[in-house]
Amino acid sequence: MRYSAQGANIEFETEGPRTGVPIIFIHGFPFAKAMWQPQVELLKKDFHVISYDVRGHGASDVGDGQYTVELFVDDVLGLLDHLKLSKVVCVGLSMGGYIALRAAERSPEKFRALVLCDTRSEADGNEGKIKRAGQARTVKADGMKKFADGFLKAVFFEKSFETNQPAVDSIRAMIENSSPTAVAGTLIAMAARTDTTPSLYTIKVPTLILVGQHDTVTPPSASHAMKEKIPGAELHMIGKAGHMSNLENPEEFNAHLLAFLRKLK
Ligand code: MLT
Repeated sequence: MRYSAQGANIEFETEGPRTGVPIIFIHGFPFAKAMWQPQVELLKKDFHVISYDVRGHGASDVGDGQYTVELFVDDVLGLLDHLKLSKVVCVGLSMGGYIALRAAERSPEKFRALVLCDTRSEADGNEGKIKRAGQARTVKADGMKKFADGFLKAVFFEKSFETNQPAVDSIRAMIENSSPTAVAGTLIAMAARTDTTPSLYTIKVPTLILVGQHDTVTPPSASHAMKEKIPGAELHMIGKAGHMSNLENPEEFNAHLLAFLRKLK
């Protein structure tokens, strides 16, 4: 299904009973909603599950390729309005977490719980901004395949290349199918995002933080720093996983996610 946002159609899917607790999944960069398949399969029996492709990713339109995280937040809040949903559980991985944290800062009344996976609240420092500028240059000059080769090594725990090749292959396909214009635009958006750290203290909904034990992109230290600031937050490390913890160790990830969701009223 598609919904028309500012200058782009956003591809989304809803599954599970409409009467179930609504959960929206926001994927990382530069992936697509299909990365949540192990979680959607599990939860669609009892929950109302919404997943969507962030503007410029998956089957959503690229539009003009000029993005901000504020625009990504407009899109997700617009999708919730379109679906007439409020008080949703929002699950975001990495960039999805940046979007979730800023959406919760802008419209806290829309959310009943947050699940922050392999993400951080801090904005990019100078080093991060310069790295993103280099990546934007690379994707435009060399295309997505070369970018995918380097990026996969950063996001997967080295053992996952032997033990979980299907997950690596599916993420590779999502990266290689991405538009260089959209990827460059998203890199610039992430480089320009705000720092949501000051508002962590004001989060009033139950919050679960999950992070791969071997995540080097958004390391466990970033998750611990968020846990210290979010009142009552719960944190679990996912063993045998890097940055793609939901795909690298879905058993452990899903067990924590389900236990958290069952505690919500
Ligand atoms: C992601 O997985 O969304 C990205 O690695 C996040 C980032 O580059 O900051």
